[in-house]
This record gives sequence, C-alpha cells and structure tokens, in this order.
Amino acid sequence: MTGAPPGASQSTESAARPSPGGHTPVMLREVLAALSPRDGAIYVDGTFGAGGYAEAILDAADCRVWGIDRDRAAVTQGQAMARRYGERLTVIQGRFGVMDRLLGEREVTAVDGIALDIGVSSMQLEDAERGFSFRADGPLDMRMTPEGEDAGPSAAEVVNDLPEAELAEVISRYGEERRARQVARAIVAARRERPIERTAHLAEIVRKAVRRGAKGGAKGRHRGIDPATRTFQALRIYVNDELGELDRGLRAAERLLAPGGRLAVVSFHSLEDRAVKSFLRERASAGARGSRHRPETPTPERRDPTFRPLTRGACRPGRTECEANPRARSARMRAAERTAAPAWDTPRTGGAPAQRGAPAQGNAR
Ligand SMILES: C[S@@+](CC[C@H](N)C(=O)[O-])C[C@H]1O[C@@H](n2cnc3c(N)ncnc32)[C@H](O)[C@@H]1O
Repeated sequence: MTGAPPGASQSTESAARPSPGGHTPVMLREVLAALSPRDGAIYVDGTFGAGGYAEAILDAADCRVWGIDRDRAAVTQGQAMARRYGERLTVIQGRFGVMDRLLGEREVTAVDGIALDIGVSSMQLEDAERGFSFRADGPLDMRMTPEGEDAGPSAAEVVNDLPEAELAEVISRYGEERRARQVARAIVAARRERPIERTAHLAEIVRKAVRRGAKGGAKGRHRGIDPATRTFQALRIYVNDELGELDRGLRAAERLLAPGGRLAVVSFHSLEDRAVKSFLRERASAGARGSRHRPETPTPERRDPTFRPLTRGACRPGRTECEANPRARSARMRAAERTAAPAWDTPRTGGAPAQRGAPAQGNAR
C-alpha cells in the first residue's frame, strides 16, 4: 500500500536536484515532509553521501545537522559543505549502526530527526576504482569502508574464498537471483583457472552463467537489466553487511530520538524495506515479551510502543521523479515518530527515552 507522510501527498514529486557531489537525492521532498525541520532542532543525516538530505534540511530551518558516512571520500567531500554552513553542519566518518555512540562522544544524547538513505551513492558507483560497478573495469572491492578497523573482506576475497554453497546462498538471498546456483558454480570454476580480481572478469562470468541458464526457460526475467546486476548487488550488500547495519541503525535511532523526534528511511531493496517495515510495526505495537538482555527474566516485560507510524505502508516516488532519476524507481520510504516510551533495546533501568533541553515541538504534525 502506498502511504504518505503529513505534508506529502501520494502525488508529490520529489525535487530531483543533483547535489554538488553529483548524486541526485531520492524522495527528498517526502523525507523533508516527514522530518518537518524546525528552527533550533538537531537532525542526523546517517547516510550523508553527497549531502543532499543534509543540505535540504539545513536550508529548510535554522537547525543543526550531524552528517554521518562510513565512506571517507564522502566525508572529505562533505567538509566543503560543512564550511559553507559553519557550526550548523558537522560531518563525521562512521557507521549509522552506532550513531548514538558517535553522537554521544560529541555530547549529543538526543536528536529531533534522523534520515537514512540506504545503499550506495552515484559517486561510489561511478568510481571504477571502488569496484561497485559491472559497467566499468576496476579492482573487485565494493567496501564502503576499505580502510581501518571497520574494513572487512573485499568482494574479491568473498568470490575467491567462499565455498560454492555459501556463495550461492549470498547471491540468492541478497541478489534475489534465481540462477544463483549456476552463477556460484561458474564463479568456482573460473577461480580454479585464475583468481577473480577485476569487476569486468566477474561480470563476464556472471553474464555467461545467467544467459546460459536463461536459454529455453523463464525468458525475459533479465530483459532490460544487465545479467550481472543482481550478483553485484548481492556481493555489495554482503561485503558491507548492509542488512546488519540497517538493523543496528534502527535500534540506534530508537535510542537516540527524543520524544516527538522523527525517523525517515529510504530503501531500495525488498529485504531492506521488509526489515524497516517489521521493525516499525513491532515497535508501534505494545508487547509483552522477555527482555533480549535478560532472557532469564521469569516474568515477561511489558513494552510500550516506541514509534507511531507517519506513513501508511511505504511511500513511493512519483512518476516524474522516476522519469528524471531512474535510480528512484525501486525506492520506498517509511517514516515514524518517536513516542516517550523507553527504547526496547536498553535495559529498563537505563531505558529512559532520550531527552533534549527543549522538547520536540512546533512541527505541523
Ligand atoms: C544512497 S547514498 C546517500 C545519498 C544522500 N542521501 C544524498 O542525497 O547525497 C548512501 C550513502 O550512505 C553511506 N552508507 C551506507 N551504509 C552506511 C552505514 N552503515 N553507515 C554510514 N554510512 C553508510 C554510503 O557510503 C553512501 O555514501
């Protein structure tokens, strides 16, 4: 079902203006309507990228924005924007899965709004050296954080080291590729010849495997998209633990948002949207359940709802935005408002909701 946050009708079209970094923000108008920025408030853009959301929030009200991105290149590029906005914008490198800790270290313990725009930016996709794209040859990397303690294995390590069955599972689960087993088999056969270290090499192996599998059956499923698309998407999600991060990010947002604070999440993959949907649905319902942190507790604890939905179902981009920016086509946005109930993830004793000096107010809710 399509829903819309207050202030954004179903027919609302996002203003698809490219950010200075070259990335066109997706569903910008819907995200702004959901957050409803107001003077004096504090917002987090947890996926800063080219700063499209941050810039729009800063221009909408005399507020303060903390931009977070795990990619050092995005943060470096964001410093120029930060200089333009002075003390109103700070861009920091890190993962939104630990945003409450990142902000806590900077003495910010509660915020009025959080935006998350899950996935990769155009800058990441278009830089062949990052290895995200099957369109240009480059080292098979795909890590959003290729350096430091957050750097996990690269896509090359994954395709060269993972057992065939696990590789097939990754490609099937995160890429929703019906020919995952054939693709995994082809990868394993190819890596016996020589390691797969370049995007062009992997793309060729995958294309052949998918086309071979497509002969005679299920024609047209891959028509219109490059047959390597799903496998590359799967590897990117796996390499960056994107679903794990999303889960941690939603829980961190629950801890960090002040009562009345708002969360807007844009996702591009059905698994991501499902994760957001089920988190918000669970948190919007009162529940009696055992504490994850104290599973030995004999009497289940009662949990009060921590979120109130602002969208009925997922909000989708309008036709004009999809025409102007085809990347927006699979986007879905869900938004919710934080209640005053303690976060479910924190033990009762320390679970009081985040409080700011001034309560959230003044929004057209
Ligand atoms: C789709 S882009 C965001 C674009 C941004 N909304 C704009 O308008 O410019 C996603 C960005 O989030 C970053 N990112 C992805 N996962 C992240 C995470 N777990 N923590 C922090 N940043 C993340 C990526 O590095 C990328 O720069």
